[in-house]
Amino acid sequence: MSYNKMYAQSIDAKEEFWREQANALSWYKKPKTILGNDEYGYPQWFQDGKLNVSYLCIDKHIEDGYGDQNAIIYDSPVTNTKTFITFNKLHEEVSKLAGGLQALGLSKGDTVIIYMPMIPQALYAMLACARLGVIHSVVFGGFAPHELAIRIDDCKPKAIITASNGIEIEKIIPYKPFVDEAISTAQSKPEHVIVFDRQLGVPIPHKPYDVDYTDLVSKSVSIEPVPVESNHPLYILYTSGTTGKPKGIIRDTGGYATALKFSMKHVYGVESGEVYWAASDVGWVVGHSYIVYGPLLNRNTTIIFEGKPIKTPDASTFWRVISEHKVAVMFTAPTAIRAIKKEDPSGSFIEKYDLSTLKYQFLAGERCDVATLNWAEQHLKVPVIDHWWQTESGWPMVANMVGVELLPVKPGSASFPVCGYDIQILNENGVQVPADVEGFVAVKLPLPPGCLLNLWGNPERFKAGYLSRFPGYYFSGDGGYVDEDGYVFITGRVDDIINVAGHRLSTAEMEEIVSSHNDVAECAVFGVHCDLKGQKPLALVVLKSETSSGHDAITKEIIAEVRHEIGAVASLKDVLVVQRLPKTRSGKILRKLLRHISDDLEYNVPSTIDDITIISEIEQVYKQNQIGIHKNIINHE
Ligand code: COA
Ligand code: AMP
Repeated sequence: MSYNKMYAQSIDAKEEFWREQANALSWYKKPKTILGNDEYGYPQWFQDGKLNVSYLCIDKHIEDGYGDQNAIIYDSPVTNTKTFITFNKLHEEVSKLAGGLQALGLSKGDTVIIYMPMIPQALYAMLACARLGVIHSVVFGGFAPHELAIRIDDCKPKAIITASNGIEIEKIIPYKPFVDEAISTAQSKPEHVIVFDRQLGVPIPHKPYDVDYTDLVSKSVSIEPVPVESNHPLYILYTSGTTGKPKGIIRDTGGYATALKFSMKHVYGVESGEVYWAASDVGWVVGHSYIVYGPLLNRNTTIIFEGKPIKTPDASTFWRVISEHKVAVMFTAPTAIRAIKKEDPSGSFIEKYDLSTLKYQFLAGERCDVATLNWAEQHLKVPVIDHWWQTESGWPMVANMVGVELLPVKPGSASFPVCGYDIQILNENGVQVPADVEGFVAVKLPLPPGCLLNLWGNPERFKAGYLSRFPGYYFSGDGGYVDEDGYVFITGRVDDIINVAGHRLSTAEMEEIVSSHNDVAECAVFGVHCDLKGQKPLALVVLKSETSSGHDAITKEIIAEVRHEIGAVASLKDVLVVQRLPKTRSGKILRKLLRHISDDLEYNVPSTIDDITIISEIEQVYKQNQIGIHKNIINHE
């Protein structure tokens, strides 16, 4: 079937379309109601169905005779380890850990935070929770204790599952001490902290709430999967919003499993039994959907890679992994390709490996620049597919659906709407704009199965943030346009969210931290262009007339504080002292203007600005600090 035909069916006959896709799963109770509404009138899928995702990811494949197939390959260049875990072994690990969690008093509907590095136990923990109907919330290891504490207070976990340490290239990251610090500052106190000791020879502090992971599993009995309703939350995943407080995206079970299973074959073009590798982290949505649940639901072998695209040990690692483990489809962020390209511009490492198993290279997480796409295509000699989605959707929204029909790639575009997503570009009044005109990227409701159910404990924010701006639509927060051939181009966020090395961060949250420094009178944090990471945060600060120390000392303190509060992943390295910030007469800081000047984009100075000379002052500071190259054309409105 052609893409056009399948897409039209998914929009025109959505219930039939998704009923058929849901039939690809083994439900305990097949859904009769395909599309319904929740109590707020927001669409929900498969409400009366019952299933268990842990069963579908593991037990089902064993019943079908694939117990000896590798479910997971753990490849860790930072520890020189390669471990092959079959579905039989995965079953033993997950069902016993689930038994251990049950013995600690956890049951369906409880919440658990998982704060772990890229080791198999992170996947066991997620799947063990799913087995019990316990709602997990994985927190990315690059987040600091303060961020972890915010999430503890929001989802109030009964237990936290963690590991003694993580390893970032050569640095040992103290996961367990971070958990202890977070618990000491959080209001909500978990009853248990289950610690997997990696035996890295680093002492771990012990607390009365600690439970040894290995001990727990060795003493527990395997348990069977607990059937849950289709709308039972599988997980909460926190993501950055436009305020300082992260949003807890709630994912359902049945819609998500249906959508992921569909996407493995139809979006990624991967067959059951093949090796699929998403080089991301379980702490991000890519990790949830395409390291854990998608590949395992589809009986693919998934790779847990504990390393980086470079420096572990060099820019050849990705190609080694593809070649050694016979990867059929790979997924990473453009920033990883840029990092490799910088180290190995001629692609000489790629030549050394047999990459004949690779069918497609997928990229997402941030805008993919044309040069990076072209470089990857030229050297990998397979279709390189940029595709667009977000934590909220849980699976691709715009892509070249290679499993249905590989359409010509247009560099700079993520291609076409994925089945089920009625993507429309709207103007400020919610009216659809013509081809080639930029606007707000929205999806006409209902969203297809698999997308967010709501925000944890905050339905008002859910409605205000996503549904109110354009009634009848889900608003993505991105800007973009559709060209005359129907290709969708995503141009970037229209809010205060930035994307640094494929990591989604809130500048509002950074501003809160920067402005809390005693010497700061006011500040603006925004994303500026970075050749490697796509974007990086830049903070402009106006200091109080009397300060406790010199400018250098203050900017260093600010950088350290953001790192301490959010985590190393915030990557705030540039803090510039300015005399004044440009504002409208009503006092609103002109962040977009500041960003346009730094990114060397053409800009207009709005007529509402209170004092035009501030612009030249800012330009001077940028020049002194080599931010942007200043060829801007200034038009006064
Ligand atoms: N645990 C602890 N710290 C972490 C971490 C984790 N899981 N992940 C990142 N960090 C730390 C890094 O060590 C670094 O610390 P440093 O400032 O002390 O060096 C900091 O956070 C910033 O990390 P990062 O933004 O990743 O930059 P980098 O310079 O270390 O690496 C790349 C650059 C491009 C190699 C790296 O960002 C990368 O591999 N990106 C791919 C991103 C990706 O897969 N995103 C998922 C979306 S698909
Ligand atoms: P996250 O929720 O962390 O996955 O980040 C989602 C955001 O990343 C989107 O809203 C976009 O702004 C950006 N993004 C992800 N993939 C792409 C892409 N292929 N092209 C452009 N932007 C992207």
